[in-house]
Amino acid sequence: MKKLLLVVSLALVSVQGAWAADKMLADRHVERGLKCESCHTTMPPKAVNTDGCLKCHVSYEKLAARTDKNDINPHDSHLENLDCGACHHGHKKPVLACDECHEFTNIKVP
Ligand code: HEC
Ligand code: HEC
Ligand code: HEC
Ligand code: HEC
Repeated sequence: MKKLLLVVSLALVSVQGAWAADKMLADRHVERGLKCESCHTTMPPKAVNTDGCLKCHVSYEKLAARTDKNDINPHDSHLENLDCGACHHGHKKPVLACDECHEFTNIKVP
């Protein structure tokens, strides 16, 4: 019986691991103690625009400084200041808008 329980709980741990890896951006914000309302200032929730993100993330200049170490800087490019939503999504998989034309393989949008 004990052995069976152990097997079951190990299986649960690995399922949770898979969930964690698949967590979308909004859920990762919530894990850090933020609330739905931190992004969605109106209820029912509407899509969050760039100004809504910059309330906390301040400016493109600040973001560019954080991602300066890469070969390409997604926050400082010839496309200038795209909407955050061109790459980052709240509840679905992100995309790297640059890859419409380029193929930047060694950078991942969180
Ligand atoms: C109420 C404040 C707040 C708002 C609004 C907000 N964020 Fe964040 N965000 C944070 C905090 C706090 C962190 C964790 C510390 C950090 O990385 O700055 C974070 C982290 C992130 C990260 C790093 C994610 C990770 O898991 O490492 C990304 C990307 C991000 N935010 C994008 C966005 C986008 C896009 C929006 C708008 C849709 C947004 N944020 C709105 C507070 C906010
Ligand atoms: C062209 C696509 C693109 C756009 C547009 C974009 N980002 Fe990002 N963002 C990225 C990528 C790619 C990374 C990961 C960079 C890395 O791995 O160092 C990132 C990382 C971040 C991080 C985490 C930085 C860290 O220290 O690791 C935050 C916070 C963030 N973005 C917020 C924003 C916000 C807010 C906006 C809108 C004002 C925005 N981003 C617009 C592609 C984008
Ligand atoms: C980091 C900011 C952020 C947080 C936190 C967040 N969301 Fe969102 N939400 C978004 C963004 C951005 C969109 C636009 C669609 C997308 O990118 O997935 C969105 C879209 C939505 C929509 C669809 C609105 C429409 O009209 O298209 C609903 C519903 C929603 N969120 C509910 C929630 C709930 C419930 C929570 C708390 C568990 C939450 N959101 C937390 C950023 C956030
Ligand atoms: C609509 C198509 C398009 C998109 C989208 C695009 N680029 Fe470009 N990019 C170009 C073209 C065209 C050139 C000039 C030709 C070349 O050098 O490849 C270029 C050149 C560059 C260069 C200098 C040349 C090199 O390859 O070193 C960098 C760096 C760059 N882009 C980064 C980005 C980044 C970062 C993004 C996303 C934020 C992006 N681009 C999105 C079309 C695009």
